[in-house]
Amino acid sequence: MKKVLLPLIFLIAFQAVKPAFAQDMQEKYRPQFHFSPRSNWMNDPNGMVFHNGTYHLFFQYYPDDKVWGPMHWGHATSKDLVSWKEQPIALYPDSLGYIFSGSAVVDAANTSGFGQDGKALLVAIFTHHNPVLEKQKTGKHEYQSLAYSLDDGKTWTKYSGNPVLPNPGITDFRDPKVSWYEPQKKWVMTLATKDRITFYSSPNLKDWTRESEFGANEGAHGGVWECPDLFPIMHNGKQVWVLIVNINPGGPNKGSAGQYFLGEFDGKTFKANSAETKWLDFGADNYAAVTFANTGNRRILMGWMSNWQYANQVPTHPWRSANTVARELGLKTAGKEMYLTSVPVKELDLLGSGGFSEKSLQVKGETNLTAKAKNSTGLFRLDFDANATADFSIVLSNKAGNELTIGYDKAANQYYTDRSKSGKVDFEKGFGVKHTAPRISKDKNISVTLVADAASIELFADGGLTAMTEIFFPDEPMSELRVKSVSGTTLSNLKYSKLKSAL
Ligand code: FRU
Repeated sequence: MKKVLLPLIFLIAFQAVKPAFAQDMQEKYRPQFHFSPRSNWMNDPNGMVFHNGTYHLFFQYYPDDKVWGPMHWGHATSKDLVSWKEQPIALYPDSLGYIFSGSAVVDAANTSGFGQDGKALLVAIFTHHNPVLEKQKTGKHEYQSLAYSLDDGKTWTKYSGNPVLPNPGITDFRDPKVSWYEPQKKWVMTLATKDRITFYSSPNLKDWTRESEFGANEGAHGGVWECPDLFPIMHNGKQVWVLIVNINPGGPNKGSAGQYFLGEFDGKTFKANSAETKWLDFGADNYAAVTFANTGNRRILMGWMSNWQYANQVPTHPWRSANTVARELGLKTAGKEMYLTSVPVKELDLLGSGGFSEKSLQVKGETNLTAKAKNSTGLFRLDFDANATADFSIVLSNKAGNELTIGYDKAANQYYTDRSKSGKVDFEKGFGVKHTAPRISKDKNISVTLVADAASIELFADGGLTAMTEIFFPDEPMSELRVKSVSGTTLSNLKYSKLKSAL
């Protein structure tokens, strides 16, 4: 009797002192350093903005169920892009409709006139999606609206003059991304309009003028265009404009994905400088990725770590979906083409808590790193360099026999992920498959960064030229780590960093 009681008493006492939130966030599959809502449904990141020392993440949220429903804007904040704190819901649906995706800006000069006492305010620009009009099939059920916050994003007031951009008769007319175009002192709205992008401009966020359309003959068109973004990045002293266009379906590995174009923007028109279709991420699980506003010279991207092919079915409870890690964007040339690169933000290193490193690790067949990784929690970052003349793969596994493989296929010059044996895969028939990505880099050496959480892996290869993001659902945590090479290879520098939970 005593034997049973004592541990029980300890358990109850321990539970009582643990904060309720941390306790809730230890469920099976719960991401430990990727943002996920405490409960219920989430999709796209929205209104991401840095303001007064805080990163704000809003997100498509349905607080009443674990499947997509009438959309709200959920809210979370962070000081370091790694540890997120969920906040009360920011925007609720209203008589004009559900609150679909959009962006937020700091209106420092109070161009909108919503400001008070000279304090910089936040303005959210979002799509109202009207389900009543949708049923009537007028094709005019999506239009753009505003809300503003005078208390650093805590509370929001919807503009009484909504909508500010009515629908001209385009069925898919949504996801406004707004930014300030300094040369002409105006706001620019990048809007997804069916499978095109339409640019609008405004002096005050309230009155919008149509400027131009992009995309009739560019990029992938296997689905509807959604969640765009437009911003410049400096490269060798030259400004290059980046236009991100998410597409669903029609991605390189089925379903949802993000494509991008590099080119020029003059405040009115975007011109792509290449006919090649380029992808932000070749994995299945990085959708609706856009960047934070107001981050100075840094460009920080975050996406929704799921895919519309199965987002409503993934076996998590009591929540559905997480975001990718925050990624810093850059530009790099490979051959004659220029590409966007993405790597985890340096703040991720804040979670490092021990690990090991190796020099010149010879791998022929298989090298088991499990003992070195010591009680791997399955949360880690692995960086290594290898020669591009040989194949290699990294296998995460557990005692239940689940395996997740990420590798480089020398013959095909491709990276790949294979989640066919990764655990629970039967909730959708296309889930348990192998995905591939081209190796874009022409360098002789390969450099790889892998970021593994409880139910996701993110691959950043060759300084972020090729990225792949995949979610998976093992029967028990992935606790074993092996490196394999059939042809034999040498990993010149390998660094394993155990990551601690950010919850
Ligand atoms: C993209 C998307 C957006 C839309 C939102 C609705 O995932 O379909 O186009 O605004 O989700 O939740």
